[in-house]
Amino acid sequence: MNQTLIELLDTRVRAALAAVDCPDAPAVIQPAGRPEFGDYQANGVMGAAKARKMNPRQLATEVLAKLDLAGIASKVEIAGPGFINITLAPEYLAGLSNLALTDANMGVPHPPAQRVVVDYSSPNLAKEMHVGHLRSTIIGDALARVLRFMGHEVIAQNHVGDWGTQFGMLTAYLIEAEQAGDVALSDLEDFYRRAKQRFDEDEVFATHARECVVKLQGGDAQVNALWQKFLDVSLHHCEALYAKLGVGLKREDVRGESAYNDDLPVVVADLQAKGLAVESEGAQVVFLDEFKNKDGEAQAYIVQKQGGGYLYATTDLAAVRYRAGTLHADRVLYVVDARQALHFQQMFTLSRKAGYAPAGMSLEHVGFGVMLGEDGKPFKTRSGGTVKLADLLEEAEQRAYALVSEKNQEMPAEERAVIAKAVGIGAVKYADLSKNRNSDYVFSWDSMLSFEGNTAPYLQYAYTRIASVFRRVETFDTRAPIIINDEAERQLALALARFAEALQTVARETMPHFLCAYLYELATQFMRFYEACPVLKSEGSVRDSRLRLCELTARTLKTGLGLLGIETLEQM
Ligand code: ARG
Repeated sequence: MNQTLIELLDTRVRAALAAVDCPDAPAVIQPAGRPEFGDYQANGVMGAAKARKMNPRQLATEVLAKLDLAGIASKVEIAGPGFINITLAPEYLAGLSNLALTDANMGVPHPPAQRVVVDYSSPNLAKEMHVGHLRSTIIGDALARVLRFMGHEVIAQNHVGDWGTQFGMLTAYLIEAEQAGDVALSDLEDFYRRAKQRFDEDEVFATHARECVVKLQGGDAQVNALWQKFLDVSLHHCEALYAKLGVGLKREDVRGESAYNDDLPVVVADLQAKGLAVESEGAQVVFLDEFKNKDGEAQAYIVQKQGGGYLYATTDLAAVRYRAGTLHADRVLYVVDARQALHFQQMFTLSRKAGYAPAGMSLEHVGFGVMLGEDGKPFKTRSGGTVKLADLLEEAEQRAYALVSEKNQEMPAEERAVIAKAVGIGAVKYADLSKNRNSDYVFSWDSMLSFEGNTAPYLQYAYTRIASVFRRVETFDTRAPIIINDEAERQLALALARFAEALQTVARETMPHFLCAYLYELATQFMRFYEACPVLKSEGSVRDSRLRLCELTARTLKTGLGLLGIETLEQM
């Protein structure tokens, strides 16, 4: 297959529209949404009829006469003011299932491959990673996995905050702590707090900290070694969390802010030379007409502070140059908190104007809302502090362990721990990924760990149910074809065939929740099939075919959850 179902139907309906003199009319194929409308609905005829001042039903009749869906659809009808409802033929869907069973890529077509930079996780290394970075890490990782599966080349970039005045303070404090023989870096959060306290309270220390900033920037060997040491400890801490989360970010994916230091003066000079950056109150500023302030004047985008310091914005401009000029990216995704939306819009606009981002390179801010507590307020610890990611994941596993223990009292403790890890971490990730990322979302242990509804445990459980079917099978023909006789089988095969569509939507919209919704729908269709169609109690080729449907469902669930970075288990 080189097209998804939607693409195939789109091609055919457009050909029919062209044959009745509507060559540019879009077909507008959508999943029908209701059984009486068939499987897919073409909505493009109405628009085409309007453009030609024709009766839409009349035009639909003409289109229908030209529409060639032989071997694909079993029923094509006109409905309402000119919809075309399409029901796919069981034999055709069976064919797609058989193909998916044998194809290395499960029948998912590869679009023209792109090189995609995914900038994600990107915590500030001065502090410990907190829940705010959880969303970026999880969403970014899922997108990277989906894009790779679709044949794209993904370059992960962990744009960590590893530069700035805080690091002067931290290295100054590290010098003090090491002199005192203190193994200060075991708790980064605590270390940061103590350093900050010294900075605020002790003038001598604060002066030393400022000297350290200058030394760091000037390349002083001792201060640089301490800075490196600090970064290393902080990155180790991140990596422990990535491992726990099953996130694939590696040390070589780290390209922090400091990597762009040498390019920052070049960027500012270039913006000046291009007449984009001008001096304003001692700072270097770009006035962007596209963005107005409340007085209707062009907004100032600062690229160099008064006093010569560079900013987050300058670094991001340098990063665009690197991603275009060195990495040759076709597409760059910035998986960053929605509150930074204005920064990205301005930075993208300026990157285009300055010629840093060629027209063919797509720049996309993949924003997301904040995580809220069950009280609807930003997620905090009981005492009001920021929640450390490590603590949160620990709690997830503990809660899942308690749940698993309730269900399987006889199970050995190690086995329970393995399940608890998959379920606990899976639940946290899935709860995040299954919501439209643009909205804030409420973090609720009870709903994410529920075995009912659109949750990780529900899907993981659905998978184990199929696995248990296979444990009860003694023999079956593992190469038997899928044959569809029953409507529940047909619906399941249709759901299976939609995997490609779901992935395509995720990749295009950069929205993982479409894959979650898809997997939930697939599991639901499977449960319906399993109730309507006996599998182990049926016989001969029907039994083999149904087992093959089970097999493909299990594989699709496992692959789909895997693309979300969620583990499946054979038993739980
Ligand atoms: N370190 C930043 C933060 O924690 C996120 C960086 C995102 N990436 C970027 N290229 N700006 O807010």
